[in-house]
Amino acid sequence: MDQQPHPRENRLIVVSNRLPCVLEKEPAGNWRVVAGSGGLVTALHPVLRDRGGVWIGWSGAVEDPAEIAEVLRAHDRDVGYELRAVPINREEVERYYHGYSNEILWPLFHDLQSQCDFLPDYWHTYVKINRRFAEKVAADLRPSDFIWVHDYQLIDVAHHLRELGVTNRLAFFLHTPFPPPDIFLKLPEWHVLLRSLMAYDFVGVQTQRDRHNLVHCIRRLLKDAHVKAEGHLHRVTLDGRDSHVASFPIGIDFQDFAVAAAAPEVESMVQAIREHNRGSRLVLGVDRLDYTKGIPHRLRAFANLLERFPEVRGRVTLVQVVVPSRIGIPKYDALKVHIEQLVSEINGRYSSVDWIPVHYVFRSLGRDELLGYYRACHIALVTPLKDGMNLVCKEYCACSLEQDSVLILSQFAGAAAQLGRSALLVNPNDVEQMADAIYKAMRMPQADRRRRMRRLRRNVYEHDIHWWVNSFMRAVIDKELKDFPVLEEFVLPFDGQQWSRAVEE
Ligand code: ADP
Ligand code: F6P
Repeated sequence: MDQQPHPRENRLIVVSNRLPCVLEKEPAGNWRVVAGSGGLVTALHPVLRDRGGVWIGWSGAVEDPAEIAEVLRAHDRDVGYELRAVPINREEVERYYHGYSNEILWPLFHDLQSQCDFLPDYWHTYVKINRRFAEKVAADLRPSDFIWVHDYQLIDVAHHLRELGVTNRLAFFLHTPFPPPDIFLKLPEWHVLLRSLMAYDFVGVQTQRDRHNLVHCIRRLLKDAHVKAEGHLHRVTLDGRDSHVASFPIGIDFQDFAVAAAAPEVESMVQAIREHNRGSRLVLGVDRLDYTKGIPHRLRAFANLLERFPEVRGRVTLVQVVVPSRIGIPKYDALKVHIEQLVSEINGRYSSVDWIPVHYVFRSLGRDELLGYYRACHIALVTPLKDGMNLVCKEYCACSLEQDSVLILSQFAGAAAQLGRSALLVNPNDVEQMADAIYKAMRMPQADRRRRMRRLRRNVYEHDIHWWVNSFMRAVIDKELKDFPVLEEFVLPFDGQQWSRAVEE
């Protein structure tokens, strides 16, 4: 007899620090629901959308848990899955989110140890909040649920779930890079975190380099672990149980971006942007406010271009969009000031009566506006000092409907492993090399631009978010996304044929 649960019983439970939406209290006292930013939300929303699963996370608010649950319930129907908030108070946000997650793990995992603040109080609150997430997950669990925990803020959740007696298969995906042993060892709690990771049945990382680093840490630092390579997986046996480690580069919902980029509202936006900047090649940077994104280096590279190649003055404009993020952490506040100083220095030095070199935007853009910039700009400058993957570069390619734009990409973005052959690869610390790359992109013949962009788009299309989630699930539970129900009332008509033609062209 078939013991498999009916597909309708399979539930996907996504657990991440943040829910896909952020709740903000307006002065009048009512709650406003705004879309979250960051790669994790962009990637996972289409996976859960309309599937009737559950997303567990923090709402971004520090008060009124009962009211928040109410607001989220009303929002469930819009997104097609259930949102469950884990309450976190102001002091806990300070220590768990600002502190351990973003002043220790975030910089350390991005090889920026000089940015770390190793305060012992942070760790205790990190453990406490990870326990709270585990309790929320365990509170309403079915044996057939697939639990998928995400990112560095929640490494310790599996260990607590096991203590609570949960026997479901547990998977974890790390969206950031994983550091090599010499850097990981700087973490005072490295041994607890490494063992916690091995409490998951499956640990996915972005690139082969991250997998190599993680396996190297386990081999070197956990003397009682036994590691065996099995095809593209590594099996780790520790304390009598097995865990697997493998790399799965995350993708985007290519189809969704490309279709949305062709909408008339975006088309009008593209025309307005181009009209306003007539005669100028447009170079685009889009990043969360974060020191890992290399924004000051990029601005210096642009200044270097204007200085060394005076003939491009008046003929090139840098559009730099910075999305507010982690406001309240001093290093982020200082970075904002630094960026604004650099922008005004460049504009002060090179502007003319009819041209301003840097068009700077500091706010969260609406989707049409973001896609409008993706389509209107001739060159994208994606130059993080280090990045787990970087989805902006993939979104830019998906939106390049004319297949005529150029991607300049940091060799230290996870995406470089997939896109490096067709992008112009740069070292983000090398300001002159970046300036040369912009100059080269401006003068690149159309045939070359098209050849490269077609290859980029094909790669992003073939390794999209559905490919990612299916390969991950196949490896972890031998299932695909189709084994999880889609709620009929949410299914949108889609002409897949029409779409694949758009990619072929
Ligand atoms: P990270 O996860 O570090 O922020 P990524 O490049 O992987 O970096 O992801 C950034 C995500 O944020 C992208 O999916 C992008 O579409 C989204 N994003 C970019 N600009 C905005 C914006 N103005 N408002 C909301 N989301 C944005
Ligand atoms: O992709 C890395 C990541 O830290 C995600 O975990 C997170 O959702 C996103 O960047 C945005 O950061 P935050 O949630 O701290 O605003």
